[in-house]
Parts: sequence; C-alpha cells; structure tokens
Amino acid sequence: MALIAQASIQAVLDACDMLEVVAPYTTLKKSGANYMGRCPFHGEKTPSFSVDPAQKLYYCFGCGEGGNVFTFMEKKEGLEFADAVRTLADKYGVSLQYEESSPEQERRRETRDRLLALLDQAAAYYSRYLQESNSAAGARKYLAGRGFHEPVINEYRLGFSPASGASLIKAATAKGYENSELMAAGLILERDGRSRDRFRGRLMFPFTDHRGRVLGFGARVLDDSKPKYLNSPDSDLYHKTNLVFGLGNARASITKEDRVFIVEGYTDVLALHQAGIANAVASMGTALTEHQLREISRFTRNIFLAFDADTAGQAAMLRALEIARRLNLSVRVIQLPQGRDPADLALAVNGAASFSDLADHAPSLLEYQVQSTLAASGLESSQGRVRAFSALKQVLSEASSSIERDEQLRIIADRLRLSPENVAYLMESAPLNDKEQDGGTRQRVLSHEEIAERSFLSMCLANPGEARRYLQLMNDAHFTTETSRSAFNWIKERLVSGKDESGIDAARVPMDSKAREILPELVIRSRTEESAPQALPEYYFRLCEAELSRRISEIKSKFGDSMDEDTGDKGIGDAGLKELYRLETRRREILQVIQSGSWGSA
Ligand code: UTP
Ligand code: MN
Repeated sequence: MALIAQASIQAVLDACDMLEVVAPYTTLKKSGANYMGRCPFHGEKTPSFSVDPAQKLYYCFGCGEGGNVFTFMEKKEGLEFADAVRTLADKYGVSLQYEESSPEQERRRETRDRLLALLDQAAAYYSRYLQESNSAAGARKYLAGRGFHEPVINEYRLGFSPASGASLIKAATAKGYENSELMAAGLILERDGRSRDRFRGRLMFPFTDHRGRVLGFGARVLDDSKPKYLNSPDSDLYHKTNLVFGLGNARASITKEDRVFIVEGYTDVLALHQAGIANAVASMGTALTEHQLREISRFTRNIFLAFDADTAGQAAMLRALEIARRLNLSVRVIQLPQGRDPADLALAVNGAASFSDLADHAPSLLEYQVQSTLAASGLESSQGRVRAFSALKQVLSEASSSIERDEQLRIIADRLRLSPENVAYLMESAPLNDKEQDGGTRQRVLSHEEIAERSFLSMCLANPGEARRYLQLMNDAHFTTETSRSAFNWIKERLVSGKDESGIDAARVPMDSKAREILPELVIRSRTEESAPQALPEYYFRLCEAELSRRISEIKSKFGDSMDEDTGDKGIGDAGLKELYRLETRRREILQVIQSGSWGSA
C-alpha cells in the first residue's frame, strides 16, 4: 500500500469532527472551551477526560492518555495509523491521494506481497493436510488427546506438514513459486544442491502478525524428540524477537477487556482461547523483548504475565518486568502452581474460572518483586537481611503510589524484623510519588523533574507573551527526558520566532516527533488549568535550580562521593573547584529568589 499523501492527512484532519468521533465511546459535556467526560481509556466515576474540539485533541487527567483524532481511532479501534486515516476519510467523504512510489519501492512491495501470499498458501496447505490426509491421523489424535477442539484449531489455522521430503515444494512450484521464494520464506532447506521441505511430520503453528498475515511457522514434534519446536528462520518478513504469537487473534479481545495475558507457549494461548480467555498472546519462548511489549502496548497498558513457574520462566519474568517499567506499563504477575503451565490450568475442569481467579489475585509488579526479593535473600541471617534491605530500597523507589509503597513497607518491616527507625529511614530514601488517582495504576510514573517540566511548558502555552522571555534563556539541559526536551524545542521555536501568537496547533506536530507524545496534554492543560501569574517565573526558576543541581552532582560524582567540601583536594583541581563554587552560589541565589518570590530581580 502506498503512503497516504501529507495533504490528504491534513484534509481528513480538517474535515473531521472530534466530538462526533468520540461520541460513541463516552458522553461529553461542555466545560469552558473544552468538553469533559468519563475517560474511555480507563474506568472512572468522575469525568477527567478532556476533548479540545478545535485542535482535535484529547487528554485524560486521570490516566494520562492523550493524542489527536487519529491516535484516538488507533487506540480505540486497534487500528494502524494509515487505517485510522482511511476510516475517518470514509466517514467524512475525503478522497485520499497517495504519494508516488519509485519503481524500486514498487518492486520491493511486489516481492513482499508474493512472499506473504506464499506463506498464506503454505498455511492453507498444512491445514488442509491436517484435516484431510490419512497420514495426519496421528496428528489429529494428538490434538484431540491434548483436549484441543476444532474451533480453536481452525481459528489458529493449525496444520500438519507431510513427512515426505518435498511435498510443499511440489505444491508451491505447481502454483508458480520459485525455489528462491520458498527459500526467502523459510519454507525449504538446501543441501548438496538439493532442496527439501524444512518442516516435515510436524504440527504447524502459523505465526501471524497483528493483522492476521502469516509470517512464519512454529513446528512441534508429536513425540518427545528434540527439538520440540522448529521455528522459521528469521527473514525479511519475520523476526522472532519482534513477533507476538496470537496477537491478530487476540487484539479485539485485548482492546475490549483492556488487558492482556502474556504466556510462554503457543499451546498456552490456544488452551486459554478455547477456555474462553481470548485476550492471550505468547512471547515466542521465554525472552519477551521490548519490541514485543511495545507492539502489545498499542492495544492495552495492562499487562498480566503468566510465565511458567520454573526458574527460566521466573528469570524471564523479571527481565520482562524491567522492560515494562521502562515503557510505563502496568504489570501484574500471575503465579502458577509449580510445574503447571497456563495450558494445564485452562484445559482442566473449571479452567477458565481458576485462571481468572489467579488473575484477579495477581500481585502488582511491586508486590511481586518485594515477595521474590524477600524469598531470595535468606532472611535468617543478618547478612541476608542487609541484602534484602538494599535490594528493596531500589524496588520501593519504583512504587507508583505512596499507598502501595506504605503497604509494602509494613510487610517488609514485619518480615525483616526492623525497628521503626529503620523503617523510617527506608521510607526517607525512597522518593515519594503521590499521584494516586482512580484507575491510577495506568498513570505513567513521572519523576518530580519531569512533572515540573511539563507544568512549566503548559504554562508557557497559556501565556505565550510572557513565556517568550523565559524560553529564550533556556536550553536542552533544562529538560530531563527526550520527550519534554522535544516539546520544549517545538514550543520555543514557535513562540520565540513570534510566528504563532495564538498558541500552538498541536495537531500539526510532525509524526516522528517525540513532542507528539505530550503536546496534547500540554495544550489541553494550558486551557483548563488555572495558574497564578507568578507560577510561570517560579517554575522557570525551579527548572533552573534543578538543572544546576544536576550539573553540581555530576561534577561531584566525577570526583567521588567522599570529596571533602572544605579541602576539596580529591584531584578536582582549582578550575573544577571554582566552577563548583560558582554553580553552588548561583543555585543558592536562585533558591533565595524562589523562597522570597521576588522574581524581577534575578
Ligand atoms: P514449552 O516447552 O513450554 O512448550 O515452550 P509449549 O508451547 O508449552 O508446548 P507444549 O505445551 O509442551 O506442547 C514454550 C515456548 O518456548 C519456545 C516456543 O515458543 C514454545 O511455545 N520453544 C520451546 C521453542 O521455540 N523451541 C523449543 O524447542 C522449545
Ligand atoms: Mn509450556
């Protein structure tokens, strides 16, 4: 499919009515320049979802979801960008123009389409063979024996590959495919100049992308021989580390339930699906990658991990947790009985109910980490307790709310037999984050610095005239994340150049800009939040102070924590010391300004 022309995207944007697009998902009421309603992205009783019909933006003050009319369609309907544009174009009768593509692009697309068609036909071939061939009787018996029924077998297009050497090659050649194409699709092996089918006598699990297109296969033996699974080799179409097994089948249900179960095995996905739990996907073995989690997070931010209870599964889970935290996803951990996987559970009597029960009681990522840290630390010895203590400090600093943290602290204090003084110490060393809201587990956990940066930027949008003079004095170093930096640059460019007196049209931020992630939030906040006139300078000085603090601690850490403030002779040198002194003095001045509130003077 060719790229939609930028002008057409703009035309769709101009044509569509944001209120009308949102209307099927929530009831909106006018409130000032914007509209408010209950958030369609998280459960809540009081409205915190705000829509700006002029700019075609939305932002939820509860869960932090925000974007424009296109992202709204992508998220709510599980569409890709181009499909969201197409859907709205249809609705508003805009006819789309496409970018001209080069002959080279055209050729590549053709090659790719042929490979996709080949893989799809291979899946159909294996599936028919499983259903119809006498030689597949063993495979049918195997599936029946494991309790898999026809609907789920059909839905996932399971198949069986003939045991003989070149059946698939023959069938594909008859349809006009070249050997080189079979090779590129990972369907054959070449040895001594002869080709043969890669998959022989195995149960075939097609790997599909989130749109249901077949990209490769996982192929299971029917007995205990090794390897248990043979997977398609990585190709131009398919990378094992990128693919999420079953996402195409699960995505509607994931969007509807607003949560996903991630399991290890293909059979786990099938078993859960058969038991009525359709929002399950597999990680393709144990290594859940950042790419896979990003893919999944397009449909929900509520992740339930249900990995096997063995050590490999548990280690994989901790790795996954780390990635998920980086992506600010809410993660719960389903703890399976030792030696059982989700398939065992789901296929047992009342399987769905017992799985759902485990899910309902699944501890949060933090609870799970506290539990497993305590379990791993050997609390009998004092050494073990010291170890647990320092590991937990880290874990607790990542708590998403103070309520959650306090609860964990009580458990820890109890388990570690700590004195209240030590608990207080622990509490102090874990930074506080009070952002508790309804449905609040989905709220991205922001650092204090980033919260201040965002507030500052939204005040700039609210007071463009005054903001100009502060923005001119600032640079990238005043902002701590790529996102806020990118938003800062975007806003600065527009306000300082004076092109844009009226504010910012956030719907026109370039697609690939990081600023896109937060501009909807900033614009909507700038129109809804009341702030005192002195708030803008105050935030400006706070960001300056934070920036100086970062520079100071950077210099200090370069010369070691132990550097003595009086003598300062740890190799920092005169120049370094002078610089440090200069920064400290400047910082103290700024702190005084902030405390006295005398903005004019600094
Ligand atoms: P499991 O051994 O748990 O397999 O591996 P399973 O999918 O649950 O299969 P059954 O229930 O025994 O039939 C979990 C996942 O690890 C990957 C596959 O993605 C599998 O689904 N794996 C495992 C391989 O890729 N190759 C292997 O040889 C084994
Ligand atoms: Mn398994």
